[in-house]
Amino acid sequence: MAIPSLLNKCYAFTEAEESRQSGAYPFFRPIEGFSGSHVIIEGKRLFMAGSNNYLGLAVDDRVKKAAAQAVLDYGSSCSGSRFMNGSLDLHENLEKRIAAFTKKEAALCFTTGYQANLGAVQALLGRGDHVFIDKSSHASIFDGLFLATGMMKQVNMHRYGHCDMEDLENKLKRLPLETNKIIVTDGVFSMEGTIADLPTLRTLADKYNAVLYLDEAHAYGVIGKTGRGTEEHYNYQASADIIMCTFSKSFGSIGGFIAGSFEVIDFIKHFSRPLMFSASMPPANIVAAQTALDIVESEPFRVQRLQEVAAKMIKGFTDIGFNIGHTQTPIIPIIIGDNERTFEFWHRLFEENIYVNPVISPAVPPNMALLRTSYMAIHKDEDLDKFLNIAEHLGRKLKLIP
Ligand SMILES: Cc1ncc(COP(=O)(O)O)c(C=O)c1O
Repeated sequence: MAIPSLLNKCYAFTEAEESRQSGAYPFFRPIEGFSGSHVIIEGKRLFMAGSNNYLGLAVDDRVKKAAAQAVLDYGSSCSGSRFMNGSLDLHENLEKRIAAFTKKEAALCFTTGYQANLGAVQALLGRGDHVFIDKSSHASIFDGLFLATGMMKQVNMHRYGHCDMEDLENKLKRLPLETNKIIVTDGVFSMEGTIADLPTLRTLADKYNAVLYLDEAHAYGVIGKTGRGTEEHYNYQASADIIMCTFSKSFGSIGGFIAGSFEVIDFIKHFSRPLMFSASMPPANIVAAQTALDIVESEPFRVQRLQEVAAKMIKGFTDIGFNIGHTQTPIIPIIIGDNERTFEFWHRLFEENIYVNPVISPAVPPNMALLRTSYMAIHKDEDLDKFLNIAEHLGRKLKLIP
C-alpha cells in the first residue's frame, strides 16, 4: 500500500536511527533500577548527575509507601477530569496544603507541571493581551501562549533577554499603562541554573500595570533557606501574583499546581482546557506529593545539604576551568557549544558510569550545546569528588579545558 504523502517526512527522518546504529545516540536510554543516587542502565550501575529529584524524595521509602497505600485506598486512576468525576478529597487537601506552603489564598492541581503552565497561561490570556517572557523560560509557558493564540486570542508576545531587566523595561514602556500585560518567568532557569531578579520584576510589574507569573519548578525545595523558592531566596522582599510549580522535581511525584488569589484560581479552574479535558492527578501521585511536602517542611536539613552540594560542585567545575555560565543552583551546565563535542563528552562520561543530560538546540540556543548536570541532597561527597576528577581528566583529553 502506498504511504500517504503526509507521512513522507517520517520515512525521510533517518538521523535518529543512524545515530542509534552507531551507538552514539544519547536519548531515551531506559533506566532499569534505582539505588539511592545511582541508577542501572544497560545492566551497569551509573552515578546519576542528571536528575531533577533534588531532595531524593522520589526514592524515599516514606513517599513510596504512602503512594502504594493510596492505590490500595483509592485505586490507580481517577478516570476523569477534575471538572467532572475526577476530583478527590485528596486533591482538595493537597491544594489547601500548597496554598499554605506558598503563602497564597488558593491553589489548583494539574496532572503535570506542563499542563499547569499550559492551562494557566491559556486561561489567563485574553484577546490582544501582551505577554513579556524571558527568552529562556520553559517550553510549557511558550506552549500556553501558542494555545491561546490558536484559540484566536491574538496574544502579543515580547521576548526579553535572559534576566535582562533593562530590556524588559524598554519593552514594557512602549505600551500605554492601561494595556493588559503579564510578565512570565522561571524563578530558577532549568538549563542555566540562574535565579530571576524577583525584586526588580515586582517593581517593573507594579510600575507598568503587569501581572507577575513565576514558574518555581526548579526553585521549590531548592532555593530559599527552607526551600520555599525564589520569594524566600529574596527574604520575601517581593512576591509574585501567581506561582506555578511541578511535583516532578523536589516533590518526588508528578503533577503541577498554580497558586494565587482565590478569584484568579477559581477563574483558571473554569477556563483552563488542559484541566478540563484531561484526567486528574492520580491518587498515588497526590499522596506522594503531599508526603514529600511534609518531609520538606519537617526536614529542612535536606534543602541545606542540597545547597551545600551545589556550592561544592560550582566551585569544583569553576576551579577545573569549565564554562558553567552564571549558575547559582544545583543545575550546573557545562557549556561546550558544538553538538558533536557535547555528544562525545557525554559518551565518555557514560563509559565511565556517569549519567548526565546532553542538551542541544532547540532546548538551548544554537551553538550553545551543553551537558546539563544536576545534583541531589542524597549525593555523597566521595562520589561527587570522583565525578569531578573524571570530568577534569576527560575535559583535558578532549581539549574542552586548557
Ligand atoms: C521550568 C519548568 N516548568 C515546567 C515544567 C514542566 O513540568 P513537568 O515535567 O512536571 O510536567 C518543567 C519540566 O521540565 C520545567 O523545567
